[in-house]
Amino acid sequence: MCGITACIGTADSVDPLMSGLKRLEYRGYDSAGLAVKGQDGLSLTKRVGEVSELASAVEQDSLDGTFGIGHTRWATHGGVTNENAHPHTDESGNIAVVHNGIIGNFQSLRTELEANGHVFSSETDTEVVPHLIEESLRDGATPEEAFRSAVGRLSGTYALAAIIGDEDAIFATRSGSPLVLGIGDGEYFLASDVPAFIPYTDRVVYLHDGDFVVTTRDGYTISDAAGRPVDRSVETVDWDPETATKGGYEHFMYKEIHEQPGALRRTIHGRLNPLSGGVELEEFPSGTFADVRQIHLVAMGTSHHAGMYAASLLSALDIPAFPFMAGEYAVTVPPVTPGTLVIAVSQSGETADTLDAVRRARAAGAKTLALTNVVGSSITRECDDELLIRAGPEIGVAATKTFSSQVTALTLLAERIVEDVTGTASTDAAEIIDALSRLPGDVQEILDTSTSRDVAAEYQDSDAYFFIGRGVAHPVALEGALKFKEISYEHAEGFAASELKHGPLALVTPFTPVFAIFTGKEDEATLSNVKEVQARGAPVIAVTSDRDGEIAEFADHVLSIPETHPDVAGILANVQLQLVAYHAAKLLDRPIDKPRNLAKCVTVE
Ligand code: F6R
Repeated sequence: MCGITACIGTADSVDPLMSGLKRLEYRGYDSAGLAVKGQDGLSLTKRVGEVSELASAVEQDSLDGTFGIGHTRWATHGGVTNENAHPHTDESGNIAVVHNGIIGNFQSLRTELEANGHVFSSETDTEVVPHLIEESLRDGATPEEAFRSAVGRLSGTYALAAIIGDEDAIFATRSGSPLVLGIGDGEYFLASDVPAFIPYTDRVVYLHDGDFVVTTRDGYTISDAAGRPVDRSVETVDWDPETATKGGYEHFMYKEIHEQPGALRRTIHGRLNPLSGGVELEEFPSGTFADVRQIHLVAMGTSHHAGMYAASLLSALDIPAFPFMAGEYAVTVPPVTPGTLVIAVSQSGETADTLDAVRRARAAGAKTLALTNVVGSSITRECDDELLIRAGPEIGVAATKTFSSQVTALTLLAERIVEDVTGTASTDAAEIIDALSRLPGDVQEILDTSTSRDVAAEYQDSDAYFFIGRGVAHPVALEGALKFKEISYEHAEGFAASELKHGPLALVTPFTPVFAIFTGKEDEATLSNVKEVQARGAPVIAVTSDRDGEIAEFADHVLSIPETHPDVAGILANVQLQLVAYHAAKLLDRPIDKPRNLAKCVTVE
């Protein structure tokens, strides 16, 4: 989704802005642009296509300036054109604005501005902002007053950064879209996400909705909508620049798949007590969840699959738990009764559908808990409590390490909830804690030994790819199919193994390989489904720890996982499926880190 970058105080602004845009590429975009202010006034270049194309254009235009703003656009209002790319300006060309989000009332503002003589040059919602600023300046407002007054007219979601007139400053604000401030040595940065400026500084202020920031070469001020100063703490992030780059791997996705042992170590660090066989969550001391009577898990995409996984674990432990696609939460109108805990699962913490579901849950009186990867993200502020998954930055559009960390953190949370609600640890608690402590090593073993590339190569010309599983293996099947389709563009579907006979079996042919996931629970039933698809000639790839038994005997291929507790086996099986998807997409030469039409962070509903 759109990315903002801005800087002031650096010797030259073009390099940091371009490097920021490059680092924001993971968010997904279709055009990019930047505006810089130098001795010759405001210069602006924007291009449809990749940041590398913008870089050539910037060089050609000899863009030069001492401060500026940049943007990667993911079209929402108006087509993918140079005119619609950001920054947007007023008629004088003296004001430039970049925006992430959607301005809900742009049409009425545009009609009003056009009636006042403003001429628009794009189809975007954003362009109303520079024109509104220009109106206020004309009425005698200072640049800061003009910026505040324009923002005061907007409804919807936005992060905005602007250069206004002759003022050597960048004006910015946020409401519902992410924006962070980076504080260097006499240099200041603004961006949608920290990796944009991490080569320049690791000191960060996570801005809140409603914050207004004015940055100059001499410093910054943060105030609220009424202009009252607000105090925001400066935090130091421990990401080295290399963490947010590819570090020798061909793709971020592959790097992130390989980072899973480390990510999982961080997820579980300090949270397992092998002596008591219990869970220790600093955030949630024993007893926190004693009043919980039912749980809703709201999330989208991969995070929804993690939510389904957790719901399956909790239900098996007699805690009523229901996964909802956050975007459907409003429609399904689930009853929020006393004792309802709503867990919002979101890697980015900025997904609009998930934030909306949280707001609905809160309005209905539920207690809310954010399970996220991003410190200070919107969801952490909207929910009553938070549990960080600590997976580290995920840049590839396809979520990989964060799914593993989400499921692991949710497994820990499930154990804490069960203990609090029932007064005793779950029957398998000690085995699960042991399995989780071995998980990083088990994932490493898969990474070292996987034959997923051979499997991907053998079946690369298939008509479609199916994934089946039962219990926790069902969301893993859905996740395996999602990963496969989103990066390979091949048709892939996941099903509950029990569902096959009720329709999907009609699709099964010798040219539709079926990936069957076995966790050690209900394997016999899944094996009978395997026999059904084999009878229709479909090749079967079993993901299992059963290397020599009946499953291996029936399968055409085995993608092996180390033996572990069945509740944890799904995490391991998923790693094999991530690798299959990656290799299939690589063989097809797909743009793995930036699949077509997709964005890392979906901040519109
Ligand atoms: C798929 C993927 C998406 C996200 C979904 C939710 O690989 O990454 O399906 O899982 O857009 O995003 P978050 O977790 O940031 O709320």
